[in-house]
Amino acid sequence: MALIALGVTGGIGAYKAVEVCRGLQKAGHDVVAVMTRSAARFVGPVTFEAITRRPVITSQWRPGANADIEHIAIADEIALLLVAPCTANTLGKFASGIADDFLSSLYLATRAPVLLAPAMNSNMLAHDAVQQNLRVLTGRGVRMVEPGEGYLACGWIGKGRLAEPAEVVSAALDMLAPPASILRGRRVLVTAGPTYEDIDAVRYVGNRSSGRMGFALADEARRRGATVTLIAGPTSIEPPVVAETVRVRSAREMHSAVMAAAQSADVVIMAAAVADYTAATRAEDKIPKSEGPMTLVLERTPDILADLARLPSRAASATPVLVGFAAETGNAVAKARAKRTRKNVDLIVANDVSAPGAGFDVPTNEVTIVSEAREQHVALASKERVAQAILDQIEIILTRTRTAVPAS
Ligand code: CTP
Repeated sequence: MALIALGVTGGIGAYKAVEVCRGLQKAGHDVVAVMTRSAARFVGPVTFEAITRRPVITSQWRPGANADIEHIAIADEIALLLVAPCTANTLGKFASGIADDFLSSLYLATRAPVLLAPAMNSNMLAHDAVQQNLRVLTGRGVRMVEPGEGYLACGWIGKGRLAEPAEVVSAALDMLAPPASILRGRRVLVTAGPTYEDIDAVRYVGNRSSGRMGFALADEARRRGATVTLIAGPTSIEPPVVAETVRVRSAREMHSAVMAAAQSADVVIMAAAVADYTAATRAEDKIPKSEGPMTLVLERTPDILADLARLPSRAASATPVLVGFAAETGNAVAKARAKRTRKNVDLIVANDVSAPGAGFDVPTNEVTIVSEAREQHVALASKERVAQAILDQIEIILTRTRTAVPAS
């Protein structure tokens, strides 16, 4: 967990900084908001105070702020200075070393990496003065999140609007990536989402999995330097950008895709809610209704995780670390323990899907990570935080049992 200073300057996109702040917190970081005078005209500091649960810094002249020379103290504590939106005025001040408010003084005082998300009218952005300031800052190692194109608040259509909050958050997280993970250079395969088992041309049997947990795991593994293959069932939320994404629909399709990709994987995480049963026959056309009840005959799908555990091993130290999930209603840990032994896998992540805020189709989860050596409870937290805890355990297993240097 790191402390990030989120600078908010006076652009119409200032309201989007609220979402940026939430995204950073969801990833497990602490945020201190620093607002310029004009930013406070667009969004009230109270909004940021409520979200960050910290006083918002709006001026270096606030009584008490100089007892420990606040901009110097914060400059030392932060792991990243992020400014979103960053106006042409603030860009200019940063480029020329002007320190006439808290944010511009913080820029000079900190040695933390700096990320700016410029936002302004397209003519201002194209102006030589602004372009030159961007070059100066980039030359100094400052990173930029490119402004997007589209409808601008001034009524123009063009380049200059603040990048989407998710893009700003992901650029910030990349800059905070932990430097040395045993996952760096390893191949991680993650499955996510539900599978849909077709009954006829228009109907299917599915489940409520959103894919969020698997997506969070794939993104976190990528952040730790792994080459990630994501195999995802049908989901309505966007997957993270990883090395390779394969879309599948049914359990059978997921089985083939996983078996093919697992050959070269160092870790396989089965976060998908794979259907245990599929329709015994699939009608080509839509089945018309008839009087009376209808019987649907289902047959078992192949158990992907169990099949992975049965794969003939390459060298013992090179078999992939296998991770499964156990969605249970009640007695989750005991059932997960039994499932881990039965399926012969390294880790089972148990969750009680009947607990509030845990399981399917919610942004949070509460799990117990069960391995042979230990059981770790992770209290209710964002799925991003839970993903970090799971990958920490996977790193422990990799370090203990698969110490061979990964093939490049
Ligand atoms: N899984 C799989 N292939 C299947 C079904 C499930 O690989 N056909 C994986 C899931 O991705 C998950 C784990 O196996 O990682 C779930 O184990 P499973 O024994 O199928 O549990 P549930 O279906 O949740 O419950 P139960 O069998 O206890 O009814």
